[in-house]
Amino acid sequence: MNAEPLMQFLNLQKYLGGRWLLDIPELTIRRAGCMILSGDNGAGKTTLLKIVAGLEPPDSADVSYRGKLLPWRAAHRDLRRNVVYLHQTPYLFDRSVTANIAYGLYHAGMTRADVKAKVTQTLEWAGLGHLAKRNARQLSGGEKQRVALARARILSPQLLLLDEPMASMDYESRERTYFLIQRLKSEGIGVVITSHEFQRIASLADEHVHLQGGKLYRNFDRPASELDINRKLALENSDSEPPFAVSEPDIR
Ligand SMILES: Nc1ncnc2c1ncn2[C@@H]1O[C@H](COP(=O)(O)OP(=O)(O)O)[C@@H](O)[C@H]1O
Ligand SMILES: [Mg+2]
Repeated sequence: MNAEPLMQFLNLQKYLGGRWLLDIPELTIRRAGCMILSGDNGAGKTTLLKIVAGLEPPDSADVSYRGKLLPWRAAHRDLRRNVVYLHQTPYLFDRSVTANIAYGLYHAGMTRADVKAKVTQTLEWAGLGHLAKRNARQLSGGEKQRVALARARILSPQLLLLDEPMASMDYESRERTYFLIQRLKSEGIGVVITSHEFQRIASLADEHVHLQGGKLYRNFDRPASELDINRKLALENSDSEPPFAVSEPDIR
């Protein structure tokens, strides 16, 4: 992981449903890092991701991105271009897997030949080659999620926000999705994942932040390799939970 910040949100506040849903003095997202964002239902995870993606306006927030510090309203178009938000039940067009993955590229003004080459490569990447001609709406939940990941990756975002990506997946689909997330990281794409599956997903994560009562709490911030060692020791030595189960107030 590269510890260099990709973007920073300062004084991020959102008032919703008669309360301050989000009140976050500082959120730093690192380049090519993997951050897990946890929190109870209704804690504001989806709202936070949409603000980061430039899709939903906060009441206030300044964004430090690409060498500039701007109010969210001035930065949100740039965020939209470089950050992709993936819904937990991705919307797929009633067309082939190939057409779904190619969709964003035609909008980016690429030629047919270039689109074809890039889509073929991305189908391979996602292990979807054998499903290329199938209607995307007829796939399983896990396959749909992989189509959505492929469609997002082909746009070469700097940051991918995955909202509960494993929510309705069987074991094999989860493992494949973990594998693709690992690949995205190694390709230099930052990933933020909302998930309740800390045990398995922790091996991918560089950071774990927890959202509660509008505040962000930092659970761990260690190299994944060190975390793996800690977890092995914890599991070997006792029945205790791995070390990332305990919250500490965010002191960044
Ligand atoms: N448009 C809205 N108007 C009023 N309340 C909303 C609106 N959108 C979301 N909320 C509320 O904001 C809270 C946070 O929602 P959300 O960000 O989806 O949380 P999470 O993803 O953590 O479950 C929830 O209590 C939800 O009911
Ligand atoms: Mg949500």
